[in-house]
Amino acid sequence: MQIEDSVALVTGAGVRLGHAMALALAENGAHVAVHYHRSQEQAQQLAETIGSMGRRSMAVHADLGDSDAVRGLIPQVAQALGPVDILINSASIFERGTIANTTVEQWDRHLDINLRAPFLLSQSLWQQHIAGRAGHIINIADWRVARPGTQHLAYSISKAGLVALTQSLAQALGPDLQVNALALGAILPAAHEQAYFERLAARLPLRHTGDPRDVVHALLYLLRSEFVTGEVLQITGGEHLQ
Ligand SMILES: NC(=O)c1ccc[n+]([C@@H]2O[C@H](COP(=O)([O-])OP(=O)(O)OC[C@H]3O[C@@H](n4cnc5c(N)ncnc54)[C@H](OP(=O)(O)O)[C@@H]3O)[C@@H](O)[C@H]2O)c1
Repeated sequence: MQIEDSVALVTGAGVRLGHAMALALAENGAHVAVHYHRSQEQAQQLAETIGSMGRRSMAVHADLGDSDAVRGLIPQVAQALGPVDILINSASIFERGTIANTTVEQWDRHLDINLRAPFLLSQSLWQQHIAGRAGHIINIADWRVARPGTQHLAYSISKAGLVALTQSLAQALGPDLQVNALALGAILPAAHEQAYFERLAARLPLRHTGDPRDVVHALLYLLRSEFVTGEVLQITGGEHLQ
C-alpha cells in the first residue's frame, strides 16, 4: 500500500520500539496517532514532532487492560485524523512468572493487554474500514512463541495467541486488509538486560543484537507488500534457529 497520506495508529508509541515505528511511519508520509498509557509527555512530544513534519498527529491515551477504553480508541482516532488504515499493535507487558508462581491476575493482565486489546482494535479497524481501500494490521510478537520457555509463562502464551490471531484474521479480513506479525528477538534491552544482550550477541548466527532500525525496515517491507498476509517475519539475527 501507499504509506503516504494513510492514517496509522501505533499502540505504546511514546517510548522505545513503538516510538521508532510511529516516527518512521510519519517520515514516510503517514498521519499518526501516538497511543500511550503512562508515557504522556513522550507521546505528546512525538505527536508535536510529527505535526511539525506536516502530518496530522495526536497523542491518545488508553489503558489497554480496559476493554471499553480499547473500543473507544479507533473511533476517536478516526474522528480526529480520518479512517484508520494501519494498526500497529506494539504495546505489551512482559513479566516473569512460571507454573509455580503465575497468579490469575498476572495471567489475565497479560492476556488482556497483549492479546484481547489487539483483537478488539482489529475488530474496530475492520468495522470502520471502507471497502476497497487497502489497510494493514501488524502485530508485534516474539520469536519465543515457536519454542516457549518456562520463565515468562503468561507473556509467552499471550504472544502465541497473537500469532494465531494474525493467521486467523489474515484469512478473515482479506482482500482489503493484510494482517502480519513481526516476531522479534533481542532488539532493545530493558535496563537490567544490557549484560545479557552482550553475552547473547556472541552466540547469535549474525553475532550482534538488533536495533530499532531493523524493526522499522521489516515494518516498511510488510506495509509496502501487496502479496504477503498471515506472515510472521522473524527479526532475530538467527536466534529462532537455535
Ligand atoms: N525490546 C525487545 O527487544 C523486544 C523483544 C521481543 C519482543 N518485543 C515486543 O516489541 C514490542 C515493543 O517492545 P518494547 O521493548 O519497545 O516495549 P516496552 O519498553 O516494554 O514498552 C511497553 C509499551 O507498552 C505500553 N503499555 C504497557 N502497559 C500498557 C497498558 N496497560 N495500556 C496501554 N499501553 C501499555 C507502554 O506504554 P506507556 O509507556 O505509555 O505506559 C509502552 O509503550 C512489544 O510488543 C514487545 O513484546 C520487544
